[in-house]
Amino acid sequence: MRLSVIGCGYLGAVHAAAMASIGHEVVGIDVDERKVASLSKGEAPFFEPGLQEILTEGIASGRLSFTTDMSAAQGAKVHFIGVGTPQQPGGYAADLTYVHAAVDGLLPYLSEGDIVAGKSTVPVGTAESLAPRVSERGATLVWNPEFLREGWAVQDTVDPDRLVAGVPSLDGAPSEEGARTADVLREVYHPSIAKGTPFIVTDYATAELVKVSANAFLATKISFINAMAEIAEVTGADVTTLADAIGHDARIGRRFLGAGIGFGGGCLPKDIRAFSARAEELGRGESVAFLREIDAINLRRRDRAVDLTVQALGGSVFEKKVTVLGAAFKPHSDDIRDSPALDVAVRLHGLGADVTLTDPAAIENARRIHPQLTYVEDRDEALRGADAVIVVTEWDEYRRELDPAQAAELAAGLVVVDGRNCLDAAAWRAAGWTYYGMGRP
Ligand code: UGA
Repeated sequence: MRLSVIGCGYLGAVHAAAMASIGHEVVGIDVDERKVASLSKGEAPFFEPGLQEILTEGIASGRLSFTTDMSAAQGAKVHFIGVGTPQQPGGYAADLTYVHAAVDGLLPYLSEGDIVAGKSTVPVGTAESLAPRVSERGATLVWNPEFLREGWAVQDTVDPDRLVAGVPSLDGAPSEEGARTADVLREVYHPSIAKGTPFIVTDYATAELVKVSANAFLATKISFINAMAEIAEVTGADVTTLADAIGHDARIGRRFLGAGIGFGGGCLPKDIRAFSARAEELGRGESVAFLREIDAINLRRRDRAVDLTVQALGGSVFEKKVTVLGAAFKPHSDDIRDSPALDVAVRLHGLGADVTLTDPAAIENARRIHPQLTYVEDRDEALRGADAVIVVTEWDEYRRELDPAQAAELAAGLVVVDGRNCLDAAAWRAAGWTYYGMGRP
């Protein structure tokens, strides 16, 4: 099928390449000329495992192209909208400028019977308000949220755990137009549906809410365990053992119970804030008032990691050499948007520490935003002479591959703060380190 994808950031670039990889003919459209130039050469503009391969393959096959020219969307049957919906400056609500611009820019190129499939994360009610503009052109709007995780984006797109389509509905069921639209999306996603991926057809509001409630739930799970870490800190309990133990209950599950410096990235933080803002607008602010607390717990954990480091260095980090391992908001990513790791590094720098930061993928991005920190590519070089080491992104390079005995030979002071509870505390202690975890004795 001929498809267009408007917006070639994380979501759009991966979606375009993944759709080409399953046999569709895809044009990706973005206003950013540099991004389009790099994608057209088959170069991924960001670090995402597997993306490079499917980009190169797609372009070589002739099925995948990128352009800044919106008219290239003409002739595609389905037009995906994958632009960003960042937090508004000075507020909690989502900024829908790019969504509106994408839809308005696309309208002149729509043909009768086309489908516009929104993938961006939007406040509930957005699709309903956009639909009439799309209908006027004889096309149909569907909301088809995306659940990909950075670092697993290709796999999550080609082989998602569920597909959701919010279609035009009447009296709680898809209208005739809605049912037809859902059938076209089934065709688009045929390979994964054939493998048994659930395909849920619903109305606009439910589809939009599925996305934000999923992220709200994940954020809640993380802040829940971080709240337990706070209690563990005053009782001498160990939050990792607690998480293992409650995680054995299948109703709870162990995943996303990783206590540490909390969640960041381009999605969870802004999505829970936009959700609160939207609920307020709907007169239901109280229903998700807990999300404010989720946010507050999350931010407190960054303070805690900084405090632990200060405490570990005897009450002050001033002029102490602190090596920060990690900058990305999570491993397998070079994304530093709202990164707790980078935030901790910057705060330590603000307290007068001589911060040396290393990361396997995110140094360039971090340096652009925070040139005041010292960046060192080589992990061992970064460790040399450190008075304290703090792990803030759980890359395998630190979690599995860093030998505490070897690290002890490089560092000057044997103090390690495990901001992600990802190190083997016993092994580090055995190698002579004073180990500090998050919510661990
Ligand atoms: C998240 C969701 O997981 C995806 O399903 C969703 O599609 C995506 O947002 C989105 O809305 O686009 P992502 O931002 O890639 O994906 O990152 P996650 O894997 O969810 O991690 C988010 C943050 O939570 C990271 O900073 C991570 O370090 C932190 N985290 C995760 C914890 O602190 N503890 C955990 O146990 C798990």
